[in-house]
Order: sequence, then C-alpha cells, then structure tokens
Amino acid sequence: MDKLKIVGGNQLDGELTISGAKNAALPILAGSLLSSEVINLQNVPQLNDVATMLTLLQSLGVKVIFDERMNLQLDSSDISSYCAPYDLVKTMRASILVLGPLLARFGQAKVSLPGGCAIGARPVNFHIQGLEAMGAKITVKNGYINASAEKLSGANINFSRVSVTGTQNIMMAAVLARGETVIKNAAKEPEVIDLANFLNSMGAKIIDAGSDKIVIEGVETLKESKYEILPDRIEAGTYLVATAITGGKIRLKQVVPEHLTAVISKLEEAGAIIDVGDNWIDLDMRSKRPSSVNLETTPYPGFPTDMQAQFCALNSVASGSAIIKETIFENRFQHINELHRMGADIEIQGNNALIKGKKILTAAPVMATDLRASAGLIIAALAAQGETVIDRIYHIDRGYERIEEKLHQLGADISRESG
Ligand code: UD1
Repeated sequence: MDKLKIVGGNQLDGELTISGAKNAALPILAGSLLSSEVINLQNVPQLNDVATMLTLLQSLGVKVIFDERMNLQLDSSDISSYCAPYDLVKTMRASILVLGPLLARFGQAKVSLPGGCAIGARPVNFHIQGLEAMGAKITVKNGYINASAEKLSGANINFSRVSVTGTQNIMMAAVLARGETVIKNAAKEPEVIDLANFLNSMGAKIIDAGSDKIVIEGVETLKESKYEILPDRIEAGTYLVATAITGGKIRLKQVVPEHLTAVISKLEEAGAIIDVGDNWIDLDMRSKRPSSVNLETTPYPGFPTDMQAQFCALNSVASGSAIIKETIFENRFQHINELHRMGADIEIQGNNALIKGKKILTAAPVMATDLRASAGLIIAALAAQGETVIDRIYHIDRGYERIEEKLHQLGADISRESG
C-alpha cells in the first residue's frame, strides 16, 4: 500500500491550476448513459473514483475513448448490461448515480446497495423513494436494488433532508420521464447545477437548478453534447488551507471563487489575506499563525462537510480554541484520532469537536480513513515538526489529482513510497 512521507515546516508558495471537480464529473459520467449519441467531456480529473466510474460504465457496454489531450468520449449506443455490481459500488458509493439514468432510458436497473462507509450509515432511501414516486417498481433483495418501469412519470418529490446525489439521481431520471417533475428541498451545490447544465446541453429541460426547487420537463430523447466539467471547489479549498497552515502564499487558477464563499470567509477569519478575480484566488498568510475559527457544516451555500477535516487540522495549530460542528455525517471525525497522535488537543462531544490550538504538532505515523480525512492529515503534516508517514493513501488518490506533485510544486517536502 502506498504511503506519503511529509517533512513539515516548509512554507507553501506559488501558483496552482485546479482540476475538474470529482463530484461534478461522477454524476455527469453517469448522466452520459441517458443518450445514445456521443458525449465529449473536457476537464475530467484523473482520479481513482473517475476510473471506477469508467470501469462501471464500460461493464455496462459504454465505449470510452480518451483523445490525445485527455478529453473523454463516451458512446452509450450499445448497452449490454443494466447491473452495477457490488465490487464496484463498495469501492465508490457514487456508483448509485447510474440507477436513475439506467432506469429512465432502459426501464430497468440493478444496482448493489452501497452499505455503510467510514463516515456514517449513508442510506439511499431518498433515491429509492423518489424513483418509486415516479412509478418505478423497486425491490431490494440479496443486497441489490432491482428497479423497473415501463416509462417513468413526472412526480412531486419533497426530500425530507438535502441530498446531493439523491437530487442528481432523481434529476437524471426525470429528464426522460413523461411530464413534469418537481424536486423540493433540492441540493443547491454547484455540482448539481453543473449536472443540470450538462443535461440541458443534451436537450433536457431543467430549470432552477441551484435553487431549492428544481423543475424538470421530461423529453423523449437526449442528444450528443460537448461539455467542460467545472473546477473542483474542494480541491481548491484544500490547497488554500494547506497554504494557510504553513503561513504561505498561493494563487489558485481555474477556480470559481463564488463557490468557495463560505470557505474563504473562514480563512479570512483565521487571518488570511484573500483577493479574488474572475477565475483566480490569492491567499497570503504573511507567515502568521492562524487564529481559531468556529464553524458548522451545512448544505451549500453553507460550510462544506468536505472541508471539515482540513479546518480541524488548521485549528489544531491555531491560536485560541474553537468548536467545529459536523451536521451532515454522523461519523466524520475519524481524522481526529490520528491528529491526537500528532499531539493535537481535540475533544469530541457528540457531533462537536472542541479544539485547543497547540503551537506545534509533532510528526507521527498516521492512517488515512477516508478521502477528506486524508486531506486533513496531509495539512497537519505540512505544519508538523519532523517526518509524518501517512498510510492508506489510496483514499486520497480517489479524489485529489497528483497531490504530491502539486504540493511539491508549491515547495512542500513530500514523497510517495510505493508498497
Ligand atoms: C455528496 C458528495 C460528498 C459530500 C456530501 C455532502 C458526491 C459524489 N459526494 O455525497 O462528497 O460529502 O454530498 O455534501 O457528490 N441521506 C439519507 N438518505 C439518502 C441520502 C442521504 O438519509 O437517501 C443522508 C446522508 O446519510 C447524509 C445526508 O443525507 O447524512 C446528506 O447526504 P448526501 O448529500 O446524500 O451525500 P452524498 O450525495 O452521498
């Protein structure tokens, strides 16, 4: 298993181009199943989760071609299977995103239940209930969701809780359904808007994505499209925090600053000087120690749960104390046990982490437990005294493109040990 070795203490300094967003690419790749014509995608990040989704699509019969500039061509004209097997779904929960498209275009789908994961139970009941409201017959047997429908019908769907992939799955099912679907309490994340823009570029009729009420008028078929995936706001936020914890300075390029409003505001509160333009963000920490910041994770436009671990690391070395409240996932504090090993002073009380900033963290062998937890550990290691070795970094390769190369480019002392 690969490990990352990081010797802390170097101030990050430089420019970085942000990759395409994992959480936009995954639903868009699944959405390509909705058309029998060729889909061209640009700015697809090269990540293990993307590779897993492509393997899944290929197992269904989708032809996948990369051109010389790594643009992706997907041809779903000849589908031979409607099944997302357990082996793929268990490595990546987002595999559930093929459920809506398969059902909408072919009237059948069999998708393994994702089961639990490191950050909580993460059920898919909203996905199932939404599709049932659209007329699908669904049974869950032997660990698989079996869904069928001659033709889905538009429905009014009111989520009891905001769900990102739930909203995306129903939106994809609704584009080929008969009549109008209204999704209430819909997720407003930029990745939901990106999926809607992609589907509309194929001829779908989706309005008001990005608001809490999305209206979808079903169409008969979808056509070809050429589409560019939006930049990854979580990757961008991670590098901003990584720079801030080292007291450094960075310019991020190819970002949408507006998508990072909540994160930028917390970094300013922590003492960073931040300037933004159309598609860039400058952060300068001027060698200062960060100040502690309280925060609470909430659905977009609130503070993202996918940035919580990174801010736990930042607060661990900040001046003062802070409370971080996690309201989205019930078990998303696993990085804290590892931060303790580096000397952090953090107490968990229910879904609150009470963090007292220490002047210095010390290197230790630590273990990555999930994707964003790994990012938190890398950030802590960049500021710690000595060499931290992070094990199980396959988690980080799921969602961060060439992370050690990018951090190295900014001046970090980081290397990968294959094993
Ligand atoms: C997506 C993101 C993930 C991010 C999360 C929250 C992708 C591929 N993943 O995950 O990076 O951390 O949004 O921003 O985009 N829930 C139910 N029943 C359901 C669905 C969800 O109870 O059927 C609950 C979940 O357990 C969780 C909450 O709703 O407590 C929100 O989860 P959701 O937004 O669905 O997360 P994902 O879409 O899986």
